[in-house]
Amino acid sequence: MKQLGAALRAEFPIFAHNVRRCEDGHLRPLCYLDSAVSTHKPQSVINALVEFLSHDYGSVHRGAYQLSVRASEKYEAARARVAKFVGAGVAPEQVIFTRGTTESLNILAHGLALSGLKSESRIVIPAIEHHANLVPWQQAALQADCELAYVPLVGTHGIELRLDLAAARKLITTNTSVVSLAHVGNVLGQVNPVQEMTALAKNVGATVILDCAQSMTCFAENPFDWGVDAVVFSGHKLYGPTGIGVLVASRELIDRLPPLLTGGGMISSVSLEESSWASGVAKFEAGTPPIAEAIGLSAALDWLEELGRTRIHAHAAQLASEFASGVSKIPGIELFYPGTGAETIVSFRHNALHAHDLATILDGSNVAMRAGHHCAWPLVKILGVDALVRASFAAYSDRDDVEQALEAIKKAILVLK
Ligand SMILES: Cc1ncc(COP(=O)(O)O)c(C=O)c1O
Repeated sequence: MKQLGAALRAEFPIFAHNVRRCEDGHLRPLCYLDSAVSTHKPQSVINALVEFLSHDYGSVHRGAYQLSVRASEKYEAARARVAKFVGAGVAPEQVIFTRGTTESLNILAHGLALSGLKSESRIVIPAIEHHANLVPWQQAALQADCELAYVPLVGTHGIELRLDLAAARKLITTNTSVVSLAHVGNVLGQVNPVQEMTALAKNVGATVILDCAQSMTCFAENPFDWGVDAVVFSGHKLYGPTGIGVLVASRELIDRLPPLLTGGGMISSVSLEESSWASGVAKFEAGTPPIAEAIGLSAALDWLEELGRTRIHAHAAQLASEFASGVSKIPGIELFYPGTGAETIVSFRHNALHAHDLATILDGSNVAMRAGHHCAWPLVKILGVDALVRASFAAYSDRDDVEQALEAIKKAILVLK
């Protein structure tokens, strides 16, 4: 079995190409602690892209010639691979390829606004969501002239940082039509109570949407077993290429929702007077789809499953907890980390230094961490801060990253004070 951590970095060319002589004259490896924003790509994914583009590339579902037929077969095989990855019982006919989680959520919000929501309907989402699972619902509520209600966060620090289920129970009532939430939060790394929220929603007949952008790398459960109606995620956070995302939906939703994008490839007939849509997933795949990206994603899923998602989760969560323990001992640091042991993300700030300044100085030690509101502005406001620094851990992270980052943070604080 392959080892996780530093041993795995030999498979990732990015690390060999980014050893850097730092400002103090020392040669330092890349300490990449921003995998929650996007993961690096193993050689097998890069090879799959090169191989496909070199040998088999053609547009899909359009040509009678060999290359197009081969590319179409590979594209459809990638769809079947994704279905298998999501879980037993999920069919390829439920897998829509998109450009990412953001597009997948826009398809759902737009489609539901046009097909399921009425003025008396309520959409319920957590207040702490990534903008991708917040702004499209604000737009849907405007479009359908209905209510958007937010589930609050319980506390502001430590173990208390979790969704307020008691408040959710009051909000998810008979007029609730949609409940949409992240499986894992992108700032606090909290694992949301998806099963409880789904049970509340199903009790009133609401559609449940699960944003798995942060969880598909580590959690191997089949989300459809919990009763959700749609699952969304992005390839680039799964060690796969950018420009490819997934929307897996129940057959009922696929039939009911109108498309977001219209054009070539998604029609059943077109005349100058009117057009009608293809049935099934084709209805949502207008234009030339991300073909090579889908094939790269399929290779990434093979790579990921060979390593084991639960193994990656245990590894990354252990490193996150070691980092949290180390960083919390540095004077002036305030942690925003539930600390249940399940998180692979640690957000923090310094009480006298701006998060952006801290992250910029860290880059001088070849430490890559993201700073800002992390596309979750309402959450950052709820926490009473303007920005946070975030460290996130992945399969290739190791203890040397924790040490390099802690040393760099201590040094940065001395420089900035
Ligand atoms: C929880 C969550 N949802 C949605 C997104 C949006 O993903 P993408 O930018 O790939 O569309 C992200 C990205 O960070 C995320 O963390």
